[in-house]
Amino acid sequence: MVRLTINNIPVEAPEGTTVLRAAERAGITIPTLCDHPDLTPFGGCRLCIVQVKGARLPATACTLPVSEGMVVETETPALIQSRRTILELLLSTYYDADQAQAALADTELMRWVRKYEIDVSAAMAREPRYPVDSDPNPFVHVDLNKCIQCTRCVRACAEIQGRFVWGMAERGYNTHPVPGAGTDMLDARCESCGACVAYCPTGALDNKMSLHAGAPDRLVTTTCTYCGVGCTLDLNVKDGRVIRVTSNPNGAVNGMHLCVKGRYGYDFIHHPDRLTRPRVRRYLLEGQPRPAEGRGEWVEVDWDTALAIAAEKLRQTRDTHGPDSVGVLTSAKCLNEENYLMNKFARQVIGTNTIDHCARL
Ligand code: SF4
Ligand code: SF4
Ligand code: FES
Repeated sequence: MVRLTINNIPVEAPEGTTVLRAAERAGITIPTLCDHPDLTPFGGCRLCIVQVKGARLPATACTLPVSEGMVVETETPALIQSRRTILELLLSTYYDADQAQAALADTELMRWVRKYEIDVSAAMAREPRYPVDSDPNPFVHVDLNKCIQCTRCVRACAEIQGRFVWGMAERGYNTHPVPGAGTDMLDARCESCGACVAYCPTGALDNKMSLHAGAPDRLVTTTCTYCGVGCTLDLNVKDGRVIRVTSNPNGAVNGMHLCVKGRYGYDFIHHPDRLTRPRVRRYLLEGQPRPAEGRGEWVEVDWDTALAIAAEKLRQTRDTHGPDSVGVLTSAKCLNEENYLMNKFARQVIGTNTIDHCARL
């Protein structure tokens, strides 16, 4: 362990730890933008500068390794002034057409801008440099006018999703993220997982489906129902409706990562066509033979009625045509225990080995 002092607090951290992570261990927050604990350090935005005793210039805490006896200050008047200048410089190439709302945005950039009391409308660029919504991706909204070139999207796509869609094009003032070799996201093999959106600290990459939905009233942490991985996600709820899904950094199996289904496949929840109660065909409910044409209308019933009819028809089919006339297809949406029970149901109740699972698809 390396011993150092940060803001007069003694801290111990394993060798190789950055000053930023060591400060976090001591409960000290250092402002960051290009850094994210899931991603390889980049050291690009310089917002995390700290003063090390004896050093001539401030250093970036996200790339500076701890060393024995190091004495670090994170919030001196000079550092605060430098951070204000850095934020003003970042905002000088940032443009939001909705100037009244820009400063209120719930993004990492705007949270630091508010903390360091920067006047957004005075500091912001006077005109856009890029078209808004510049990519036809159905889920990711791209507005490079809000980009601060932090490269978190590039690293998230490469290191978390493994798709290498984003790269940085051009140099200096014109540097900007670009999918592939200047194509659009889907042509650059994007899987629309939204990881780049989740890691973007400015809203330059945003969720198209919920762009104007505003802030949620509350977050409901839950488990994705699409497959057996069981990713943790946050349902963003407003006025009793799910307006978007966001990553929960504490997700035990997935961290910040989600696939396209977990992140964007939530519109079924309030869809008017969604079945929320069981239904059976009227002829089954009334114990009549199947109609000569079609199968008759659906009738909404309670669960006991629906299950009793299903059980009776399965029993009749097995008894009339043999156990192998029934096949069972179970689902990755079920718990392991439920799938185990389906296995028992197929083999021991019905008497067939014809059972499969959609996770094999
Ligand atoms: S949505 Fe996912 S796959 Fe597509 S660019 Fe973003 S991180 Fe890469
Ligand atoms: S799009 Fe977002 S994540 Fe990517 S470089 Fe720009 S600000 Fe950073
Ligand atoms: S957070 Fe350290 S340089 Fe950006």
